[in-house]
Amino acid sequence: MMNTEALFATPAGIARAAAILRGGGLVAMPTETVYGLAGDARLDATVARIFAAKGRPGFNPLIVHLENLAQARELAVFDARAEALAQAFWPGPLTLVLPRRADAGLSPLVSAGLASVALRLPAHPVARALLAAFGGPLAAPSANPSGRVSPTTSAHVRDGLGGRIDAILDGGACEVGVESSIVGLTGPATLLRPGGIPLEALEAALGSRLVTAADPAKITAPGQLASHYAPSAAVRLNVTSPLPDEVWVGFGPACPGAALTLSPNGDLVEAAAALFHILRRADALAGPNGAIAFAPVPETGLGRAINDRLRRAAAPRT
Ligand code: TXA
Ligand code: MG
Repeated sequence: MMNTEALFATPAGIARAAAILRGGGLVAMPTETVYGLAGDARLDATVARIFAAKGRPGFNPLIVHLENLAQARELAVFDARAEALAQAFWPGPLTLVLPRRADAGLSPLVSAGLASVALRLPAHPVARALLAAFGGPLAAPSANPSGRVSPTTSAHVRDGLGGRIDAILDGGACEVGVESSIVGLTGPATLLRPGGIPLEALEAALGSRLVTAADPAKITAPGQLASHYAPSAAVRLNVTSPLPDEVWVGFGPACPGAALTLSPNGDLVEAAAALFHILRRADALAGPNGAIAFAPVPETGLGRAINDRLRRAAAPRT
């Protein structure tokens, strides 16, 4: 176990975090979606430490985070579709999977041997300040042990990875609450993971439809494993009449007696922001052999990302 430094979003805290990163260390940083476990994407040993700290399988590639579009264009080939999506949604909760430039200088481990690379410009002011201070590409998967619930506060990060990483930069609770939408552009434009930008908005900006998985629980992005976001308790979905021993999580006003709610008024933005926090609270309430039942959430807007995470939380564990 190592001592994991607690850093705050002050100029001194950000400078310290950037210095740790320049030394090849790992820093958990806030983004508008979830906390990411950041390390220098150019260093093999650092990228290998990210995989080790998370217990992440090496075939599951990482997202590279950048401060600006010029840096992104140095790493990957942008076609007209990529330019349109970047203009519309960067900085923000969108990741683009693009053909990687051969001379990009990234560790090959980042892309798990693929010829593509996943890029994102986060919007969170603390992430942007850290990227500016560091000045290079940061590989950053969500800052949770592989397969577990993603972190939306620094306390969640410490619970999962405390003692395994160099520092946690505290930037408060994440506003969006679900990970970025991932769009693959190495072939037909494909939604590889629903996330913080709704499918409808992506299609409006592109002016065309995206390919989506017919079965949303099907593995699309490598490492989009069926069982993910798993709490300890069992999870049931689309429950309108919970069993007596289940912790019922409601959505909207029609869930009288629910122990917790994703959003009392049925607001999908509020529900996305609350999702991972509620999943942790429900798990604590249910206890080790308990069960959690989620009320139905509509499959529109951010509901697509919420349902994707809930299906993976409910999937049979391996
Ligand atoms: O919001 C987010 O995207 C957060 C924050 C920290 O930025 N990050 C995040 O990273 O969710 P992670 O590692 O938990 O999820 C990355 C996803 C994985 O499903 C991975 O398979 C996919 O991105 N991915 C990465 N590189 C890819 C590539 N070259 N081709 C296809 N999928 C890729
Ligand atoms: Mg993740």
